[in-house]
Amino acid sequence: MGDEGVIGLAGRRVVLTGASRGIGRACALRLAGGGARILAVARGGEALDALAGEAAELPGRIVPYPGDVTDETGAEALAEEAGKRLGGVDALVNNAGAAVFREIEALSPENFDATLAVCLKAPYLLTRSLAPLLEESGGDVINISSIAAVDGFSGGAAYCAAKAGLEGLSRALVQELRPRGIRVTILRPGATATRMWEGIPGEFDASKMIPPGVVAESLEYVLTLSREAWTETLVLYPPGGKV
Ligand SMILES: NC(=O)c1ccc[n+]([C@@H]2O[C@H](COP(=O)([O-])OP(=O)(O)OC[C@H]3O[C@@H](n4cnc5c(N)ncnc54)[C@H](OP(=O)(O)O)[C@@H]3O)[C@@H](O)[C@H]2O)c1
Repeated sequence: MGDEGVIGLAGRRVVLTGASRGIGRACALRLAGGGARILAVARGGEALDALAGEAAELPGRIVPYPGDVTDETGAEALAEEAGKRLGGVDALVNNAGAAVFREIEALSPENFDATLAVCLKAPYLLTRSLAPLLEESGGDVINISSIAAVDGFSGGAAYCAAKAGLEGLSRALVQELRPRGIRVTILRPGATATRMWEGIPGEFDASKMIPPGVVAESLEYVLTLSREAWTETLVLYPPGGKV
């Protein structure tokens, strides 16, 4: 067996959304540690600057790109900037996520739309804008889904709908983009210890959840998986089972 199609992280040009904290931050540091160059997107510019500073000694580089992924016109501008600042794009990681967790009568249409805008519409917008650059490089799209795409929970109507939608979008794009040489993968983590849980009513034990660095490890796996094989969905569970 040879190492046909093996690709490392060094020099990989990655657009990563939601990089300012949680899973995205861990992913940015992990990929920069392997030599990747990352356009790090989130609204919080200061957190992105701090992240870029933290990565200064790493072999790769983190380039802060403050912006709101739900901004329709912003997606085109982001693609243009990514092309200029990274010199092309090898991977898009749609990780940014935000949700309103409320039971149905308390869940306003605005809450519902806002959740879908970040978790579902933004990945569509960014994939659309970056597809030409990804085709040029034979790149990857990795959509960070959630176990909520397949498991419902009380208060999760908007989030579960958005993540199920993201998986539907992804499965269509797996087929549509494969002939163009773009590999689309769903990365579906279970409960992960991040600040996202602060917005979910109830008590949770973060020590039973997946550490964000482990999601980053699985992202590296997907990004470096030989082009001789494609995986459509990678599912991660916390070590003790579902939280
Ligand atoms: N934590 C879990 O248990 C878990 C499990 C499975 C999947 N996930 C998914 O993993 C992803 C990351 O979640 P996390 O747990 O790391 O959450 P988090 O700690 O709350 O981080 C969310 C990230 O998304 C960014 N973001 C939110 N809205 C944005 C917008 N409109 N434009 C640009 N960036 C935006 C945030 O940055 P700014 O606020 O600075 O914009 C932040 O960097 C999400 O897609 C989430 O659904 C999480």
